[in-house]
Amino acid sequence: MITLRNLWKKFGKMEVLRGLNLDIKEEETLVILGPSGIGKSVLLKHIIGLLKPDEGTIDIDGVRITDLSGAELLNAVHDMGMLFQGAALFDSMNVEENTAFYLKQHGDPRLDKWLSKSEIADRVDYALKLVGLEGTQKKMPSELSGGMRKRAAFARLIVYRPKIVLYDEPTTGLDPIIAMQINELIVKTREELKATSVVVTHDMFSALYVGDRLALIRDGKIAHEADPDDFLKIDDPLIKFLHCTISQDPRQLKEKNHHG
Ligand SMILES: Nc1ncnc2c1ncn2[C@@H]1O[C@H](COP(=O)(O)OP(=O)(O)O)[C@@H](O)[C@H]1O
Ligand SMILES: [Mg+2]
Repeated sequence: MITLRNLWKKFGKMEVLRGLNLDIKEEETLVILGPSGIGKSVLLKHIIGLLKPDEGTIDIDGVRITDLSGAELLNAVHDMGMLFQGAALFDSMNVEENTAFYLKQHGDPRLDKWLSKSEIADRVDYALKLVGLEGTQKKMPSELSGGMRKRAAFARLIVYRPKIVLYDEPTTGLDPIIAMQINELIVKTREELKATSVVVTHDMFSALYVGDRLALIRDGKIAHEADPDDFLKIDDPLIKFLHCTISQDPRQLKEKNHHG
């Protein structure tokens, strides 16, 4: 459970978060929609402890991370993972080294223990298989297509088995086929890891495909939050516009993909 209360954050004179409140429930996938520059990445960075609010509190499973700093903060957020916008692989490491990176650095956050070399290799093989990149262990990022790099970044995230997964515009800039693979991976990851997921996006198709609940951020606050059906009924020009951008309800497609 993630509880955000009365979050305020400004950069210079620009107030990005203005008293934001939000609850994210255990094992749900919450999608936060909003146009560019509205503060979606800033919000995710607060949840994972990379930014501190000027005011307000963030509780993660009962731990008030806004009161913590240094090693205590790192310890409190070590079972979270984030898929950053852009693939952000380490260029000098091959796919296997990239994928193993967090596990080698931090151990397994669920078991709270370090893993042996062979355990890490097994986990890496498994994660690469899950994202459809088996056999690419020795390839360098420069040898991969954009879609493959994104999936390798995904493997690096899930190999670590985070309990809370944050996705920053996971489908932005990808062609529709790769975007669909990423949507599938978000659903699969949630099922596999029983993770709580927060997805920020302006992609309505992706939002409906992966989301249990949808929220809209505006003026530094959550303007609306509801389950997908109720969300689509909200009388708001931006929601109506976003709804217009999709020609088919992605949830029908999902039924097909998952049941035959
Ligand atoms: N570290 C920072 N320093 C100054 N301004 C920032 C910083 N991070 C974000 N901002 C500003 O905050 C606003 C919201 O940014 P962001 O959360 O990245 O938007 P988006 O919704 O597109 O992810 C933007 O105007 C951005 O320029
Ligand atoms: Mg952003």
